[in-house]
Amino acid sequence: MAGYKIKEVVARQVYDSRAVPTVEVEVSLECGAVGRSIVPSGASTGAYEALELRDKDGHFGGKGVNRALSNIRKVLAPAIIGMDATDQTGIDSKLIALDGSPSKSNLGANAILGVSMAVAYSSANAAKQPLFRYLGGANAKTIPVPMIQIIGGGAHAVGSIDIQDFLVVPMSAENFASGFKMVVDVYNGTKQVFAKAGKPLSTADEGGFWPTGFKSNEEGLQLVCDGIEKAGYLPGKDVAIALDIASSEFYNKDSERYSFHLEQRDFSREEFVDLLAGWVERYPIISIEDGCSELDWEGSVLLTKRLGRKIQIIGDDLFTTNIARIKEGVEKGACNAVLIKPNQIGTVTETLDCIEYTKSVGYLPVVSARSGETEDSIIVHLAIATNAGQLKVGSVARSERNAKWNETLRMEELLGKSGVYPSSGIFKMIK
Ligand code: PGA
Ligand code: ZN
Repeated sequence: MAGYKIKEVVARQVYDSRAVPTVEVEVSLECGAVGRSIVPSGASTGAYEALELRDKDGHFGGKGVNRALSNIRKVLAPAIIGMDATDQTGIDSKLIALDGSPSKSNLGANAILGVSMAVAYSSANAAKQPLFRYLGGANAKTIPVPMIQIIGGGAHAVGSIDIQDFLVVPMSAENFASGFKMVVDVYNGTKQVFAKAGKPLSTADEGGFWPTGFKSNEEGLQLVCDGIEKAGYLPGKDVAIALDIASSEFYNKDSERYSFHLEQRDFSREEFVDLLAGWVERYPIISIEDGCSELDWEGSVLLTKRLGRKIQIIGDDLFTTNIARIKEGVEKGACNAVLIKPNQIGTVTETLDCIEYTKSVGYLPVVSARSGETEDSIIVHLAIATNAGQLKVGSVARSERNAKWNETLRMEELLGKSGVYPSSGIFKMIK
């Protein structure tokens, strides 16, 4: 299309919410439009994720991204300059082919994703459309139900609690803005509960409270319930709990056992599934993510058999936004939902394909941020563009998180009466 030809690609090192370097890319078109993106980064990274290329030298603990930047400047940019930026699929295919490896390990998924996202932004800007509408077209209208962290543990609050995320989901809200307000109330309610219990208040990597002085993992569940009540809501009816167990972090593949370090307790897969099922009976839990390890298909199948008709069972590290792994999960009967993280797979096109595939097999897509985040809020647009229905982004504190929530508020306002907010109805789709 006239004016949409890529004229220039600029790559630079910027920093994420953990003071870790990351890749920023700017793509300029002949018409003058510019698209800019920043790549996020995980801490509890799945073994099957696309590779994040780091310098592994003496700076930033080896986490610099100069090699990724150099690959953008020397390999990716020359190949796409002159291409039509509206041809996202063609450009992404070219980026994938230039790398040539299954896990994008030659050029780095961070290099490739940065370019892919900036291309999408540049065309949307040239078309003077919000990114969700440019990517999703006329039927892109679903404002996602938020899944928001209240307490952060695991790899995001080292030495505290074993479970990574205690999150909440507003169930009785009529729109995103009021659902978000409910979560803000719960966050503040929980803060008071922490203070009353004499627990020091600090924040974990994603802005939720850092659990110090806890005696058990289960204590987190009671605390969040108390926080919901303190805020004046009914646990389960108004606000439900979601957990990201991130259990790959404490699964021992040799002994095939799960270990809670906090409580010095050790579980077989059957015992661990029993523990989670017991929690679902006793607490208003609507969703469990990575209840079993990425290496333990048997556990995930068992968990899904036990709970998969009642609540959402999400695979994150298990699936890594990878259609081949989701297909395996469907065949085996593991999970009923998929966490979608663009940097686990490495291009915009593959992310969109993965969401489409997830829906086509009757699983629920949950678009997600990473623990290392920035002001980039592309995930909001990916969620609305695909009518995914859910968005998970850490907490309601710290601006790299609120960049996403504030953008969702703006897009809900922009869509106005044309917007659709599924609220708790989204969970009725669980088979
Ligand atoms: P990560 O955590 O970005 O550190 O992987 C997020 C998650 O596990 O969902
Ligand atoms: Zn996760």
